[in-house]
Formats: sequence, C-alpha cells, structure tokens
Amino acid sequence: MTVSGRACGKLILAGEHAVVYGVPAVALGIDRGALAHAKELASGPCRLRVTTWSADVSERDGHELARAFHALLGSVRTDGALAPVEVEATTELPAGGGLGCSAALGVAIARAVAPDASDDDIREHAMAWERIFHGNPSGVDAAVATLGGAVQFVRQDERSVIETIAPLGSLVFAIGHSGIASSTRAMVESVARQRAERPAAVEATFDAVRAVVGGVRAALEAGDRVALGQLLDQNQAHLGTLALSTPSIELMCESAREAGALGAKLTGAGGGGCVVALADGRASAERILSAWKARSFEGFVAEIHTRGRAHAHDHAGSELAAT
Ligand code: PMV
Repeated sequence: MTVSGRACGKLILAGEHAVVYGVPAVALGIDRGALAHAKELASGPCRLRVTTWSADVSERDGHELARAFHALLGSVRTDGALAPVEVEATTELPAGGGLGCSAALGVAIARAVAPDASDDDIREHAMAWERIFHGNPSGVDAAVATLGGAVQFVRQDERSVIETIAPLGSLVFAIGHSGIASSTRAMVESVARQRAERPAAVEATFDAVRAVVGGVRAALEAGDRVALGQLLDQNQAHLGTLALSTPSIELMCESAREAGALGAKLTGAGGGGCVVALADGRASAERILSAWKARSFEGFVAEIHTRGRAHAHDHAGSELAAT
C-alpha cells in the first residue's frame, strides 16, 4: 500500500528573522509545495528518494538529507513503532528560495509516513527535520506548510502561538527568483552576529518590524491592499538594514514597483532567494513577471483565496524550545 502526503509552500509577508527572536510573523500558504509517497518495505532501514534533487538516501547515511530523514523518523517513532518504508518525494519549490521548500518536504514526508498523526504532531516531526537543515528554525515554515492559509506565528520560549487569519478578498502576488540560492542557516547566523555586535540597533529594527507585522495583519483583515503594499516596502527596508537584501533583490523590488506592484520585498531568509510583489490583480502580476523576465529573473503568479476561517491555537511543545 502507498500512502501519500502533501504540504504547501509559503510566503512570509512580514516578520522573517525577527520571528526567530519572538516577534510575530505573518505568512501565507501557496499552492506550490511538496508531495511524498510512502511504501512499506519488507525490511529496514527506511529509504528516502527526493526525485527533484536526484537524491537517494538511507536513514543510516551520514549526508545531511539522510540525517534530517533519520531525525524525522525518530520523532515519528516516539509515538509508536514504524514499519520500514521507502519514501519518494518531489517539490515544486526552489531549494534556498525562501518559499519553505525544506519545511514543505518535511511535512509531506511526515504525512506520508504517519498518516494518522495530528497537525501538531506532523509539525513536530517536520521540526525535527528542519533543525538538521537550519539549526535554529523559528517554526513558522513548518506551521504554514502544515496548516496552509494565512497564519500569524509567534515563537515563545517553550511553545508557539499560531493564529489563522482570514484575509478579506483575494490577493495576487508575483513571485520571482533572484537567481541565487541562499542558506537560511547562514543568514540566521548573520543576524545573530549583528545582534551580538550592535544589540540596540538590531532590537530597534525588530521593534519596527513588529509594528509592520501588526499593520500587515490589520491590512489583510480589512482587505486594504494599498496599505499592505506599503507595509511590504517598509519590511523590505528593515531587512535591508540587516544586510539581508542583495543588489538583485533591490533591482527586482524596484522593477516590480515600476511595473505597478503595490509593494515588494524579499521573502524568507534573504541573501538571495525569492522576491514577493503584491500585484493589483492578475494582469498586474503578469506585467511584473514581464518586467522581471526582461531582466532575466524567472517567476510565477500565486493567487491567495481566503479559506474564511480564523481561530487561534496555543501550541505547547518542546519542539519550539528556544535554543
Ligand atoms: O528562507 P526560508 O524559507 O527558510 O525561511 C526562513 C525564515 C526565517 O525567519 C529567516 C528563519 C526562521 O527560522 O524563521
């Protein structure tokens, strides 16, 4: 029997990096994501093939992907015995693109391997995987990959607080790749160094980001796309002061705005990866993609439709213990 699991990618609209230090972040699930199929094996060890990356590992291998798989399976095994499985996974998301590729893969694999697990448990299994790749992940990626929709995520010491948000109306984004993959671990470490060297300045930036995040949530709920666009621009400026932007990202944000975007910013870790531009409808998004294409940046359109439900969870759990 084959069991399948799916997970979505994500856009962080505001709060990346600051979220690692307890500032809220607001993120949206996107249709592009990851898919995994698990098939029982007659005997162990478990195997993982990520066909998108032409990778084929055993949970006993030493490679980072194998260690992440092993950590995920270890988390699943704390809930009970697991029959040996062979997992085949694919993703539509670029690695190191800021769209939550690794979290989407982790959640899809966890769902294929542990189909009866709750969303909270799936998130925990995916966090075990994420920690191998990223060291100190806030958990926002795994939360959005699990839940989809619009989410406000806050990391708090031993737990996370996740609230689903109900945006008013539809949102259309152009998402483009700066052409350079970035390492979330390296970018998070760079912010940690800056925070150690100039704590007051970095904390002031985080405070400013906190205000932006509050505004983004309010703008989503009010369906105020103009305000939302301005807030994306503001968040981009704050990320720039933390040296997370690049000349290509700045060029993409500028050309998106010239092409009619209501706002634009990097999304995720920065230092490369993707730019997200809020478009004024589908035709506007296509104009932004053309402007990027003229400068050799590839992209796609993501349309977000509200799922019309909003509720809050308090997620207790060691998986979010701050380190
Ligand atoms: O670039 P991504 O998809 O790995 O997103 C990272 C988000 C950060 O806030 C930079 C890190 C984190 O753990 O929240």
